[in-house]
Amino acid sequence: MKYYIKTFGCQMNERDSEKVEGILLDNNYEKVEEAEQADLIIINSCAVREKAENKLYSEIGRLRFKNKKATIVAMGCVAQINYEKLKNLADVVVGTNTIDEFYNIVKKQGISGVFIKPSMDKPDYIFPHLNRITSYIDIMYGCDNFCSYCVVPYTRGREVSRKREAIIEEIKELVDKGTKEVMLLGQNVNSYGKNFNYGFVDLLYEVNKVEGLERIRFTTSHPKDFSKDLIYAIRDLKKVCEHIHLPIQSGSNKILNLMRRKYTKEEYLEKVHIYKEIVKNGSITTDIIVGFPQETEEDFQETLNVLEEVKYDTSFSFKYSKRAFTKAKDMDGQVPEEDKMKRLNLLQDLQAKITQEKLKTYENRIVEVLIEGVSKKGNQFFGRNRQNMVVNLDFMDNIKAGDIVKVKITKAFKHSLLGKVI
Ligand code: 5AD
Ligand code: SF4
Repeated sequence: MKYYIKTFGCQMNERDSEKVEGILLDNNYEKVEEAEQADLIIINSCAVREKAENKLYSEIGRLRFKNKKATIVAMGCVAQINYEKLKNLADVVVGTNTIDEFYNIVKKQGISGVFIKPSMDKPDYIFPHLNRITSYIDIMYGCDNFCSYCVVPYTRGREVSRKREAIIEEIKELVDKGTKEVMLLGQNVNSYGKNFNYGFVDLLYEVNKVEGLERIRFTTSHPKDFSKDLIYAIRDLKKVCEHIHLPIQSGSNKILNLMRRKYTKEEYLEKVHIYKEIVKNGSITTDIIVGFPQETEEDFQETLNVLEEVKYDTSFSFKYSKRAFTKAKDMDGQVPEEDKMKRLNLLQDLQAKITQEKLKTYENRIVEVLIEGVSKKGNQFFGRNRQNMVVNLDFMDNIKAGDIVKVKITKAFKHSLLGKVI
């Protein structure tokens, strides 16, 4: 049997798709890159913005047209909230908390049905991985924050942390098979372990002890829970990389309040200030929404000011998109599309300049790079430094993917660095 899989969305979705692939490969399925050749077509969907959601519907139509015989599975965030509509379009609908259903799907041919659970009830289960140098590890599922624009608490259910033992066992198994770096995943990793007698920082200390593991990354940190203890852990734990992703969303306190983010711009900036002081060479990235309801030009200007002040290495910015179930969708003062577009362009232009400046500061510096693979053209290696910037290197015989090398940066490009192994 052959499968084809297409994934939209964030790293959690990428990890979920990998779980599915692992189950299929363990059951003698073979991966194909052309949907026409597949017996099973899987689309893992994203619901965070309207555009992403619509991609699921157009993909189902497009792939059904290409391949009328295959079983089509709609999974992921859109499946979780729109299963009623999807049950008429796809053969199987699998929500975000029922990926274990794939153990049944592989056994039965011509299966159909809807498999949804509101929240994750088997958090400690260890799903398969594909062999990767960087492995994604779920440390918690769901989100309890209910930011007023965000559909995630509805698509992924209540927050539940995985026990430390399950996480460590999973990481040790992966390191035995060649993993060098782990990315610990959660919607709000700083609230990890709410119902345990240990928290995220304790978990980092445990993961840092895993022999053979070289690097630890994590995402996402919610500014309201981002703590000094964590900043010290980034400084003190050798394997934890000097990078934080700390989504600010807006630089205006009025908007942050409407977004229900539970921090002020001043509190946020104070934490960034402490991080920069304590973690030498620490990088910082963020997420920003422009055109949230009631955002004025002045509010938007405050966001630009924060960009200038923090000087993010990169930011991911989006136009506000109305989402089902959320509070913000019914708020007064929705911002016209053309204003959103204008603000997004201004913000992205400013960020491009800042990114360029920041990358430029790496010229002539020596950085540590974990080699991830060979470029498409085959003449360069690529990897990342500890600050999460992409570094390209001229091809050399005596290095390979998975190696950690010292590199002198020779040139900064728009989004990446070029260097030489020393
Ligand atoms: N509209 C636009 N962007 C959104 N995000 C989440 N919900 C929305 C929405 N309704 C953005 C946030 C979040 C990132 C993953 O997606 O910036 O941090
Ligand atoms: Fe969405 Fe807020 Fe939860 Fe992040 S913390 S997933 S933005 S509700």
